Amino acid sequence: NSGYFTFDPGFTSTASCESKITYIDGDNGILLHRGFPIEQLAKEASFLEVCYILLNGEAPGKEEFSKFERDIKHHTMVHEQIHRLFNGFRRDSHPMAVLCGVTGALAAFYHQGLDVENPEHRRLTAYRLLSKMPTVAAMCYKYSIGHPFVQPKNKLSYAGNFLHMMFATPAEEYVVNPILEKAMDKIMILHADHEQNASTSTVRTAGSSGANPFACIAAGIASLWGPAHGGANEACLKMLEEIKTVEHIPEYIARAKDKNDSFRLMGFGHRVYKNYDPRATVMRETCHEVLNELGIHDDLLEVAMELERIALNDPYFIERKLYPNVDFYSGIILKAMNIPASMFTVIFAISRTIGWISHWIEMHEEGMKIARPRQLYTGYVQRDFKSKL
Ligand code: SDX
Repeated sequence: NSGYFTFDPGFTSTASCESKITYIDGDNGILLHRGFPIEQLAKEASFLEVCYILLNGEAPGKEEFSKFERDIKHHTMVHEQIHRLFNGFRRDSHPMAVLCGVTGALAAFYHQGLDVENPEHRRLTAYRLLSKMPTVAAMCYKYSIGHPFVQPKNKLSYAGNFLHMMFATPAEEYVVNPILEKAMDKIMILHADHEQNASTSTVRTAGSSGANPFACIAAGIASLWGPAHGGANEACLKMLEEIKTVEHIPEYIARAKDKNDSFRLMGFGHRVYKNYDPRATVMRETCHEVLNELGIHDDLLEVAMELERIALNDPYFIERKLYPNVDFYSGIILKAMNIPASMFTVIFAISRTIGWISHWIEMHEEGMKIARPRQLYTGYVQRDFKSKL
Protein backbone atom coordinates (compact mmCIF):
# COMPACT_ATOMS: atom_id res chain seq x y z
CA ASN A 1 0.00 0.00 0.00
CA SER A 2 3.09 2.22 0.19
CA GLY A 3 2.93 2.65 -3.58
CA TYR A 4 6.29 0.85 -3.79
CA PHE A 5 7.06 -2.63 -5.10
CA THR A 6 8.32 -5.08 -2.43
CA PHE A 7 9.90 -8.50 -3.09
CA ASP A 8 10.23 -11.81 -1.30
CA PRO A 9 13.45 -11.48 0.85
CA GLY A 10 14.26 -15.02 -0.23
CA PHE A 11 15.37 -13.70 -3.64
CA THR A 12 18.78 -15.19 -4.46
CA SER A 13 21.19 -14.04 -7.12
CA THR A 14 22.42 -16.58 -9.66
CA ALA A 15 26.02 -16.99 -10.88
CA SER A 16 26.90 -14.27 -13.41
CA CYS A 17 28.79 -16.61 -15.76
CA GLU A 18 30.67 -19.91 -16.15
CA SER A 19 34.47 -19.97 -16.27
CA LYS A 20 37.30 -22.49 -16.23
CA ILE A 21 40.03 -20.04 -15.26
CA THR A 22 39.98 -19.53 -11.47
CA TYR A 23 38.29 -21.29 -8.57
CA ILE A 24 37.83 -19.75 -5.11
CA ASP A 25 36.55 -21.54 -2.02
CA GLY A 26 35.98 -18.55 0.28
CA ASP A 27 35.10 -20.61 3.37
CA ASN A 28 38.28 -22.67 3.20
CA GLY A 29 40.62 -20.01 1.80
CA ILE A 30 41.36 -21.90 -1.43
CA LEU A 31 42.44 -20.20 -4.70
CA LEU A 32 43.23 -22.26 -7.82
CA HIS A 33 44.31 -21.01 -11.24
CA ARG A 34 43.41 -23.69 -13.85
CA GLY A 35 43.46 -26.12 -10.89
CA PHE A 36 46.92 -25.10 -9.59
CA PRO A 37 46.97 -23.76 -5.96
CA ILE A 38 48.15 -20.14 -5.68
CA GLU A 39 50.64 -21.12 -2.96
CA GLN A 40 52.42 -23.51 -5.35
CA LEU A 41 52.36 -21.07 -8.27
CA ALA A 42 53.78 -18.26 -6.08
CA LYS A 43 56.57 -20.57 -4.91
CA GLU A 44 57.42 -22.53 -8.09
CA ALA A 45 56.35 -20.51 -11.14
CA SER A 46 57.28 -17.17 -12.73
CA PHE A 47 54.65 -14.56 -13.48
CA LEU A 48 54.98 -15.16 -17.25
CA GLU A 49 54.49 -18.90 -16.65
CA VAL A 50 51.30 -18.08 -14.71
CA CYS A 51 50.23 -15.85 -17.62
CA TYR A 52 50.68 -18.79 -20.00
CA ILE A 53 48.66 -21.05 -17.66
CA LEU A 54 45.81 -18.53 -17.30
CA LEU A 55 45.65 -17.95 -21.06
CA ASN A 56 46.11 -21.56 -22.24
CA GLY A 57 44.90 -23.73 -19.36
CA GLU A 58 48.07 -25.84 -19.06
CA ALA A 59 51.64 -25.36 -17.80
CA PRO A 60 54.04 -24.65 -20.70
CA GLY A 61 56.95 -26.93 -21.71
CA LYS A 62 60.37 -25.36 -22.34
CA GLU A 63 59.75 -24.85 -26.08
CA GLU A 64 56.26 -23.45 -25.60
CA PHE A 65 57.44 -21.07 -22.89
CA SER A 66 60.42 -19.78 -24.90
CA LYS A 67 58.14 -19.01 -27.85
CA PHE A 68 55.55 -17.37 -25.53
CA GLU A 69 58.24 -15.22 -23.90
CA ARG A 70 59.61 -14.17 -27.32
CA ASP A 71 56.11 -13.33 -28.58
CA ILE A 72 55.40 -11.23 -25.49
CA LYS A 73 58.71 -9.35 -25.58
CA HIS A 74 58.18 -8.54 -29.24
CA HIS A 75 55.55 -5.98 -28.17
CA THR A 76 57.15 -4.21 -25.19
CA MET A 77 57.65 -0.85 -26.95
CA VAL A 78 54.83 1.62 -27.58
CA HIS A 79 54.25 3.91 -30.58
CA GLU A 80 56.10 7.25 -30.32
CA GLN A 81 52.78 9.12 -30.64
CA ILE A 82 51.72 7.57 -27.32
CA HIS A 83 54.61 9.34 -25.62
CA ARG A 84 52.95 12.60 -26.68
CA LEU A 85 49.60 11.54 -25.20
CA PHE A 86 51.04 12.01 -21.73
CA ASN A 87 51.57 15.73 -22.31
CA GLY A 88 47.81 16.21 -22.05
CA PHE A 89 47.90 15.25 -18.35
CA ARG A 90 48.96 17.41 -15.40
CA ARG A 91 52.22 16.12 -13.94
CA ASP A 92 50.48 15.66 -10.57
CA SER A 93 47.66 13.54 -12.05
CA HIS A 94 47.09 10.28 -10.16
CA PRO A 95 48.91 7.57 -12.16
CA MET A 96 45.70 5.50 -12.28
CA ALA A 97 43.96 8.38 -14.09
CA VAL A 98 46.76 8.43 -16.66
CA LEU A 99 46.88 4.63 -16.99
CA CYS A 100 43.12 4.48 -17.52
CA GLY A 101 43.22 7.19 -20.19
CA VAL A 102 46.26 5.91 -22.06
CA THR A 103 45.08 2.28 -22.01
CA GLY A 104 41.79 3.24 -23.65
CA ALA A 105 43.73 5.28 -26.21
CA LEU A 106 45.85 2.22 -27.15
CA ALA A 107 42.82 1.11 -29.22
CA ALA A 108 43.58 3.94 -31.64
CA PHE A 109 47.01 2.39 -32.29
CA TYR A 110 46.59 -1.35 -31.80
CA HIS A 111 42.98 -2.25 -32.56
CA GLN A 112 42.87 -0.73 -36.04
CA GLY A 113 41.72 -3.36 -38.51
CA LEU A 114 41.39 -6.08 -35.85
CA ASP A 115 38.21 -8.02 -35.21
CA VAL A 116 37.25 -9.22 -31.73
CA GLU A 117 35.58 -12.23 -33.38
CA ASN A 118 38.94 -13.40 -34.80
CA PRO A 119 40.79 -15.75 -32.37
CA GLU A 120 44.21 -14.80 -33.79
CA HIS A 121 43.41 -11.11 -33.37
CA ARG A 122 42.30 -11.78 -29.77
CA ARG A 123 45.57 -13.58 -29.00
CA LEU A 124 47.65 -10.82 -30.63
CA THR A 125 45.81 -8.27 -28.48
CA ALA A 126 46.42 -10.33 -25.33
CA TYR A 127 50.15 -10.39 -26.09
CA ARG A 128 50.22 -6.66 -26.85
CA LEU A 129 48.41 -5.76 -23.62
CA LEU A 130 50.47 -8.13 -21.49
CA SER A 131 53.62 -6.67 -22.98
CA LYS A 132 52.77 -2.98 -23.09
CA MET A 133 51.06 -2.49 -19.74
CA PRO A 134 54.34 -2.47 -17.73
CA THR A 135 55.81 -0.01 -20.27
CA VAL A 136 52.81 2.33 -20.02
CA ALA A 137 52.69 1.93 -16.23
CA ALA A 138 56.34 2.88 -15.84
CA MET A 139 55.72 5.83 -18.18
CA CYS A 140 52.95 6.99 -15.81
CA TYR A 141 55.47 7.03 -12.97
CA LYS A 142 58.25 8.70 -14.96
CA TYR A 143 55.82 11.36 -16.20
CA SER A 144 54.69 12.08 -12.61
CA ILE A 145 58.27 12.77 -11.47
CA GLY A 146 59.35 14.67 -14.59
CA HIS A 147 61.89 12.04 -15.65
CA PRO A 148 62.37 10.93 -19.27
CA PHE A 149 60.65 7.70 -20.31
CA VAL A 150 62.90 4.64 -20.26
CA GLN A 151 62.65 2.19 -23.16
CA PRO A 152 62.14 -1.51 -22.34
CA LYS A 153 65.15 -3.85 -22.37
CA ASN A 154 64.00 -7.24 -23.65
CA LYS A 155 66.98 -9.12 -22.26
CA LEU A 156 65.53 -8.51 -18.78
CA SER A 157 62.77 -10.60 -17.16
CA TYR A 158 59.19 -9.31 -17.15
CA ALA A 159 59.45 -8.00 -13.58
CA GLY A 160 63.07 -6.89 -14.07
CA ASN A 161 62.13 -4.90 -17.16
CA PHE A 162 59.34 -3.16 -15.26
CA LEU A 163 61.72 -2.18 -12.43
CA HIS A 164 64.27 -1.02 -15.03
CA MET A 165 61.68 1.20 -16.77
CA MET A 166 60.57 2.53 -13.38
CA PHE A 167 63.97 3.38 -11.90
CA ALA A 168 66.65 3.60 -14.61
CA THR A 169 67.71 7.12 -15.66
CA PRO A 170 69.97 8.28 -18.52
CA ALA A 171 72.37 9.63 -15.91
CA GLU A 172 73.06 6.44 -13.97
CA GLU A 173 73.56 2.75 -14.76
CA TYR A 174 70.64 0.85 -13.19
CA VAL A 175 71.17 -2.77 -12.16
CA VAL A 176 68.03 -4.75 -11.30
CA ASN A 177 68.24 -6.02 -7.71
CA PRO A 178 67.39 -9.77 -7.84
CA ILE A 179 65.64 -9.55 -4.46
CA LEU A 180 63.30 -6.85 -5.76
CA GLU A 181 62.87 -8.64 -9.10
CA LYS A 182 61.78 -11.88 -7.37
CA ALA A 183 59.46 -9.98 -5.00
CA MET A 184 57.85 -8.02 -7.85
CA ASP A 185 57.36 -11.23 -9.84
CA LYS A 186 55.64 -12.84 -6.84
CA ILE A 187 53.45 -9.78 -6.22
CA MET A 188 52.35 -9.94 -9.86
CA ILE A 189 51.47 -13.64 -9.52
CA LEU A 190 49.42 -12.96 -6.37
CA HIS A 191 47.39 -10.30 -8.23
CA ALA A 192 47.04 -12.09 -11.59
CA ASP A 193 43.43 -13.24 -11.43
CA HIS A 194 40.61 -13.66 -8.94
CA GLU A 195 37.41 -15.03 -10.55
CA GLN A 196 34.53 -12.56 -11.00
CA ASN A 197 35.76 -9.64 -8.86
CA ALA A 198 34.37 -6.18 -9.56
CA SER A 199 36.96 -5.19 -12.18
CA THR A 200 36.91 -8.54 -14.01
CA SER A 201 33.12 -8.43 -14.10
CA THR A 202 33.44 -4.90 -15.49
CA VAL A 203 35.73 -6.14 -18.26
CA ARG A 204 33.32 -8.97 -19.08
CA THR A 205 30.32 -6.63 -19.07
CA ALA A 206 32.06 -4.11 -21.34
CA GLY A 207 33.31 -6.93 -23.57
CA SER A 208 29.86 -8.49 -23.87
CA SER A 209 28.76 -5.58 -26.06
CA GLY A 210 31.59 -6.36 -28.50
CA ALA A 211 33.65 -3.35 -27.33
CA ASN A 212 37.33 -3.42 -28.24
CA PRO A 213 39.65 -5.07 -25.66
CA PHE A 214 41.59 -1.88 -24.85
CA ALA A 215 38.35 -0.10 -23.91
CA CYS A 216 37.36 -3.13 -21.81
CA ILE A 217 40.69 -3.17 -19.95
CA ALA A 218 40.43 0.60 -19.38
CA ALA A 219 36.99 -0.03 -17.83
CA GLY A 220 38.56 -2.70 -15.60
CA ILE A 221 41.26 -0.22 -14.52
CA ALA A 222 38.57 2.32 -13.63
CA SER A 223 36.74 -0.22 -11.46
CA LEU A 224 39.91 -1.51 -9.80
CA TRP A 225 40.85 2.06 -8.71
CA GLY A 226 38.15 2.17 -6.01
CA PRO A 227 39.36 1.91 -2.37
CA ALA A 228 36.95 -0.99 -1.76
CA HIS A 229 38.78 -2.95 -4.49
CA GLY A 230 42.28 -2.50 -5.89
CA GLY A 231 42.69 0.96 -4.37
CA ALA A 232 42.80 -0.72 -0.94
CA ASN A 233 46.57 -1.33 -1.10
CA GLU A 234 47.27 2.40 -1.36
CA ALA A 235 44.57 3.13 1.28
CA CYS A 236 45.99 0.44 3.58
CA LEU A 237 49.49 1.93 3.61
CA LYS A 238 48.00 5.38 4.28
CA MET A 239 46.02 3.85 7.17
CA LEU A 240 49.11 2.19 8.66
CA GLU A 241 51.06 5.46 8.35
CA GLU A 242 48.18 7.30 10.07
CA ILE A 243 48.09 4.74 12.91
CA LYS A 244 51.89 5.16 13.11
CA THR A 245 52.50 3.15 16.33
CA VAL A 246 50.97 0.07 17.98
CA GLU A 247 49.71 2.28 20.84
CA HIS A 248 47.20 3.88 18.46
CA ILE A 249 45.78 0.57 17.16
CA PRO A 250 42.91 0.25 19.71
CA GLU A 251 41.55 3.65 18.61
CA TYR A 252 41.38 2.50 14.97
CA ILE A 253 39.90 -0.90 15.87
CA ALA A 254 37.16 0.97 17.77
CA ARG A 255 36.54 3.22 14.76
CA ALA A 256 36.33 0.19 12.42
CA LYS A 257 33.61 -1.28 14.66
CA ASP A 258 31.69 1.99 15.08
CA LYS A 259 28.71 1.96 12.70
CA ASN A 260 28.56 5.75 12.87
CA ASP A 261 32.11 5.96 11.53
CA SER A 262 32.67 5.23 7.82
CA PHE A 263 36.23 4.10 8.60
CA ARG A 264 36.99 0.48 7.73
CA LEU A 265 40.23 -1.43 8.23
CA MET A 266 41.84 -1.26 4.79
CA GLY A 267 43.23 -4.60 3.63
CA PHE A 268 40.73 -6.43 5.83
CA GLY A 269 37.57 -8.31 4.85
CA HIS A 270 36.43 -9.76 1.54
CA ARG A 271 33.22 -10.40 -0.40
CA VAL A 272 34.14 -14.06 -0.87
CA TYR A 273 36.86 -15.09 1.60
CA LYS A 274 35.36 -15.80 5.01
CA ASN A 275 38.70 -17.33 5.95
CA TYR A 276 42.28 -16.20 5.47
CA ASP A 277 42.95 -14.94 1.90
CA PRO A 278 45.66 -17.42 0.80
CA ARG A 279 47.39 -14.59 -1.05
CA ALA A 280 47.73 -12.60 2.18
CA THR A 281 49.62 -15.48 3.77
CA VAL A 282 52.14 -15.57 0.92
CA MET A 283 52.30 -11.76 0.88
CA ARG A 284 53.12 -11.62 4.59
CA GLU A 285 55.93 -14.21 4.17
CA THR A 286 57.27 -12.24 1.18
CA CYS A 287 57.13 -9.05 3.26
CA HIS A 288 59.35 -10.56 5.94
CA GLU A 289 61.74 -12.05 3.33
CA VAL A 290 62.16 -8.79 1.39
CA LEU A 291 62.64 -6.58 4.46
CA ASN A 292 65.15 -9.06 5.95
CA GLU A 293 67.08 -9.46 2.69
CA LEU A 294 67.18 -5.68 2.20
CA GLY A 295 68.09 -5.16 5.84
CA ILE A 296 65.15 -2.77 6.26
CA HIS A 297 63.27 -2.35 9.53
CA ASP A 298 59.86 -0.76 8.90
CA ASP A 299 57.78 0.08 11.97
CA LEU A 300 54.69 -0.25 9.76
CA LEU A 301 55.26 -4.02 9.53
CA GLU A 302 55.11 -4.18 13.32
CA VAL A 303 51.91 -2.08 13.28
CA ALA A 304 50.39 -4.33 10.59
CA MET A 305 51.19 -7.53 12.44
CA GLU A 306 49.89 -6.21 15.77
CA LEU A 307 46.76 -4.87 14.07
CA GLU A 308 46.21 -8.30 12.50
CA ARG A 309 46.77 -10.07 15.84
CA ILE A 310 44.33 -7.81 17.72
CA ALA A 311 41.64 -7.93 15.01
CA LEU A 312 41.83 -11.72 14.65
CA ASN A 313 41.15 -12.03 18.39
CA ASP A 314 38.34 -9.47 18.46
CA PRO A 315 34.75 -10.85 18.53
CA TYR A 316 33.56 -8.20 16.03
CA PHE A 317 35.98 -9.45 13.38
CA ILE A 318 35.64 -13.10 14.35
CA GLU A 319 31.82 -13.05 14.13
CA ARG A 320 31.98 -11.35 10.72
CA LYS A 321 34.79 -13.64 9.49
CA LEU A 322 37.00 -10.68 8.61
CA TYR A 323 40.61 -11.57 7.75
CA PRO A 324 43.52 -9.77 6.06
CA ASN A 325 43.24 -9.82 2.26
CA VAL A 326 45.76 -9.50 -0.56
CA ASP A 327 46.09 -5.75 0.02
CA PHE A 328 47.08 -5.85 3.69
CA TYR A 329 50.84 -6.48 3.37
CA SER A 330 51.54 -5.62 -0.28
CA GLY A 331 52.01 -1.91 0.39
CA ILE A 332 54.79 -2.51 2.91
CA ILE A 333 56.76 -4.54 0.36
CA LEU A 334 56.22 -1.99 -2.41
CA LYS A 335 57.26 0.83 -0.05
CA ALA A 336 60.47 -1.10 0.71
CA MET A 337 61.05 -1.17 -3.06
CA ASN A 338 60.81 2.67 -3.11
CA ILE A 339 57.57 2.53 -5.10
CA PRO A 340 55.25 5.45 -4.20
CA ALA A 341 51.79 4.57 -2.82
CA SER A 342 50.18 6.26 -5.84
CA MET A 343 51.67 3.47 -8.00
CA PHE A 344 50.41 0.54 -5.88
CA THR A 345 47.09 0.12 -7.70
CA VAL A 346 48.87 0.64 -11.03
CA ILE A 347 50.97 -2.42 -10.18
CA PHE A 348 47.80 -4.29 -9.25
CA ALA A 349 46.35 -3.28 -12.67
CA ILE A 350 49.33 -4.46 -14.73
CA SER A 351 49.34 -7.74 -12.79
CA ARG A 352 45.57 -8.24 -13.23
CA THR A 353 45.70 -7.49 -16.98
CA ILE A 354 46.38 -11.18 -17.66
CA GLY A 355 43.28 -12.15 -15.66
CA TRP A 356 41.14 -9.55 -17.36
CA ILE A 357 42.22 -10.49 -20.89
CA SER A 358 41.97 -14.25 -20.18
CA HIS A 359 38.36 -13.76 -19.09
CA TRP A 360 37.69 -11.51 -22.10
CA ILE A 361 39.02 -14.23 -24.45
CA GLU A 362 37.10 -16.99 -22.61
CA MET A 363 33.90 -14.95 -22.88
CA HIS A 364 34.34 -14.64 -26.65
CA GLU A 365 35.27 -18.31 -27.04
CA GLU A 366 32.23 -19.41 -25.02
CA GLY A 367 29.92 -17.35 -27.25
CA MET A 368 28.67 -14.49 -25.12
CA LYS A 369 25.34 -12.69 -24.89
CA ILE A 370 25.34 -9.01 -23.98
CA ALA A 371 25.34 -8.55 -20.20
CA ARG A 372 21.95 -7.31 -19.07
CA PRO A 373 21.56 -7.62 -15.23
CA ARG A 374 17.96 -7.28 -14.06
CA GLN A 375 16.89 -5.38 -10.91
CA LEU A 376 14.50 -5.44 -8.01
CA TYR A 377 12.29 -2.44 -8.83
CA THR A 378 11.30 -0.63 -5.61
CA GLY A 379 10.03 2.63 -7.14
CA TYR A 380 6.52 4.00 -7.69
CA VAL A 381 3.77 1.94 -9.27
CA GLN A 382 2.34 3.59 -12.40
CA ARG A 383 0.69 6.99 -11.73
CA ASP A 384 -0.61 9.91 -13.86
CA PHE A 385 1.63 12.90 -14.55
CA LYS A 386 0.40 16.46 -13.85
CA SER A 387 2.97 19.25 -14.30
CA LYS A 388 3.51 21.46 -11.24
CA LEU A 389 5.15 24.22 -13.25
C1 SDX B 1 40.11 -6.80 -3.34
O1 SDX B 1 36.39 -9.49 -5.12
C2 SDX B 1 37.63 -9.73 -5.16
O2 SDX B 1 38.05 -10.86 -5.40
C3 SDX B 1 38.55 -8.55 -4.91
C4 SDX B 1 40.03 -8.86 -4.79
C5 SDX B 1 40.63 -9.31 -6.11
O3 SDX B 1 41.68 -9.95 -6.08
O4 SDX B 1 40.09 -8.89 -7.17
O5 SDX B 1 40.23 -9.86 -3.82
C6 SDX B 1 40.83 -7.60 -4.37
O6 SDX B 1 39.40 -5.90 -3.69
C7 SDX B 1 40.25 -7.17 -1.90
C8 SDX B 1 39.37 -6.28 -0.96
C9 SDX B 1 40.14 -4.97 -0.78
N1 SDX B 1 39.31 -3.99 -0.03
C10 SDX B 1 39.61 -3.64 1.22
O7 SDX B 1 40.51 -4.15 1.89
C11 SDX B 1 38.76 -2.50 1.76
C12 SDX B 1 38.33 -2.82 3.19
N2 SDX B 1 37.41 -3.95 3.11
C13 SDX B 1 36.01 -3.62 3.10
O8 SDX B 1 35.67 -2.42 2.48
C14 SDX B 1 35.13 -4.82 2.84
O9 SDX B 1 35.62 -5.87 3.57
C15 SDX B 1 34.88 -5.28 1.42
C16 SDX B 1 34.49 -4.17 0.53
C17 SDX B 1 36.09 -5.95 0.87
C18 SDX B 1 33.73 -6.23 1.52
O10 SDX B 1 32.65 -5.44 2.05
P1 SDX B 1 31.29 -6.07 2.43
O11 SDX B 1 30.79 -6.84 1.27
O12 SDX B 1 30.36 -5.09 3.03
O13 SDX B 1 31.76 -7.09 3.55
P2 SDX B 1 30.80 -8.00 4.25
O14 SDX B 1 29.42 -8.05 3.67
O15 SDX B 1 31.51 -9.30 4.38
O16 SDX B 1 30.66 -7.21 5.67
C19 SDX B 1 30.16 -7.92 6.74
C20 SDX B 1 30.31 -7.00 7.96
C21 SDX B 1 29.63 -5.64 7.82
O17 SDX B 1 29.24 -5.24 9.15
P3 SDX B 1 27.69 -5.56 9.64
O18 SDX B 1 26.82 -4.73 8.72
O19 SDX B 1 27.51 -7.05 9.49
O20 SDX B 1 27.66 -5.10 11.07
O21 SDX B 1 31.70 -6.71 8.19
C22 SDX B 1 31.90 -5.32 8.18
C23 SDX B 1 30.76 -4.72 7.41
O22 SDX B 1 30.56 -3.39 7.83
N3 SDX B 1 33.20 -5.09 7.52
C24 SDX B 1 34.19 -4.38 8.04
C25 SDX B 1 35.23 -4.47 7.12
N4 SDX B 1 34.86 -5.21 6.07
C26 SDX B 1 33.58 -5.60 6.33
N5 SDX B 1 34.30 -3.68 9.20
C27 SDX B 1 35.50 -3.05 9.42
N6 SDX B 1 36.56 -3.10 8.56
C28 SDX B 1 36.45 -3.79 7.40
N7 SDX B 1 37.50 -3.83 6.54
